[in-house]
Amino acid sequence: MKIKIENLQKSYKLSRRVNQAALRGITVEIDQGEFCAVIGPSGSGKTTLLNILGCIDQPTTGRVYFDDCEVTALPERELVRIRQSLIGYIFQFFNLIPTLTAFENAQLPFWYAKREERERYVKNLDRLFAEIGISELKKRYPGQLSGGQQQRVAIARALAHFPKLVLADEPTGNLDSHNTGEIMALMKRESKKLGASFIVATHDLSLLEHFDKVIAIKDGMVERVTLNKNDETG
Ligand SMILES: Nc1ncnc2c1ncn2[C@@H]1O[C@H](COP(=O)(O)OP(=O)(O)OP(=O)(O)O)[C@@H](O)[C@H]1O
Ligand SMILES: [Mg+2]
Repeated sequence: MKIKIENLQKSYKLSRRVNQAALRGITVEIDQGEFCAVIGPSGSGKTTLLNILGCIDQPTTGRVYFDDCEVTALPERELVRIRQSLIGYIFQFFNLIPTLTAFENAQLPFWYAKREERERYVKNLDRLFAEIGISELKKRYPGQLSGGQQQRVAIARALAHFPKLVLADEPTGNLDSHNTGEIMALMKRESKKLGASFIVATHDLSLLEHFDKVIAIKDGMVERVTLNKNDETG
């Protein structure tokens, strides 16, 4: 899915008279299947941008298009459908439910889908668990898993329903450098396999070589966009 962001602005109301500007006119495009980073100092607006792209927050002004559809013009009931069918979310703190097993956790986003869909997604989860190397951990509870293993489960959960856009906010923020490298590599591999666009917010400048495109933001504005051309895909 191609994502087009046009003059996106967001300010938060802190009190009746005080507004906090978080995004101040972001214009950028992300191609279908592109593996993309958003970098920038703390408070620069990365999470705000991801939340708007994830249809869990609304901009103050500006537009977001998914292919030819302007998502910023859609009513909430349409956004629910988009969140469930098109988008996958990966978080810094994994957000697994402690009382469900790894495999149950990974099924949560499509728990209420129709039966045929559920079956297709469970099959994809089996494939993902195998490919990610966590098949033997299906019946474990999150408390019985390492951080890196929990994030692998969370990645399978985000990808099971064949999303077209995956949003990851500091997905390696709680991992050691070995797990960070492996998680980056597997996200990129699955991005190419699914043809899903990935947008990864990160502080970690040592990771930038993994990405097709790096969007640097500062004070809620795009500072520069860098393309890594000599990148092998597949
Ligand atoms: N709910 C909110 N209400 C008011 N201001 C907010 C809110 N959320 C974020 N902000 C402000 O908006 C700006 C951008 O915040 P955002 O969380 O998007 O930054 P970030 O780049 O993700 O930072 P970090 O790297 O620390 O996660 C900051 O100045 C922040 O204080
Ligand atoms: Mg953030």
